[in-house]
Amino acid sequence: MDITAKILEHPKYIEYMECNAATEKDRLFCKHDLQHALDVARVAYIICLERRLEIPKELLYAAALLHDIAKWKQYQHGTDHALEGSILAGKILLDIGVSAGDAEVITKAIKTHRQENMEKSVFGKVLYESDKACRPCVFCKSIHACHRFQDGKEAKMQY
Ligand SMILES: [Fe+2]
Ligand SMILES: [Fe+2]
Repeated sequence: MDITAKILEHPKYIEYMECNAATEKDRLFCKHDLQHALDVARVAYIICLERRLEIPKELLYAAALLHDIAKWKQYQHGTDHALEGSILAGKILLDIGVSAGDAEVITKAIKTHRQENMEKSVFGKVLYESDKACRPCVFCKSIHACHRFQDGKEAKMQY
């Protein structure tokens, strides 16, 4: 089964990504669009190759594609997009025929991708790390107002 293709063409996935685009239309900071989802997927896969982690590529891509699908809900209702996203992602995954076990592995990683101090699976750590590492903050024109750099932390090129 091509999980990636099935997620990308799922009507709910398309709808949620459009909601993200609508709520981030005037956003000065980095967006939570398909480009970001794909960047996370690719960096996550590179991390797995470098560390010889045996996480199936299709599960990595599924988690990366789905991890921010509830960002719009956070803007509208203040809900945690990681927690909310894991619920929405679980429904999509089961709907496209992913096994309950694989869906749980993916949704657990999504649930913990936002907060550094949350206990994570190895998969969850890769998602968390790739989510941060894929952002080219060093070139960002809004970096002075970004919450990630309020403590004087310096942006570095990640490679
Ligand atoms: Fe996120
Ligand atoms: Fe993200």
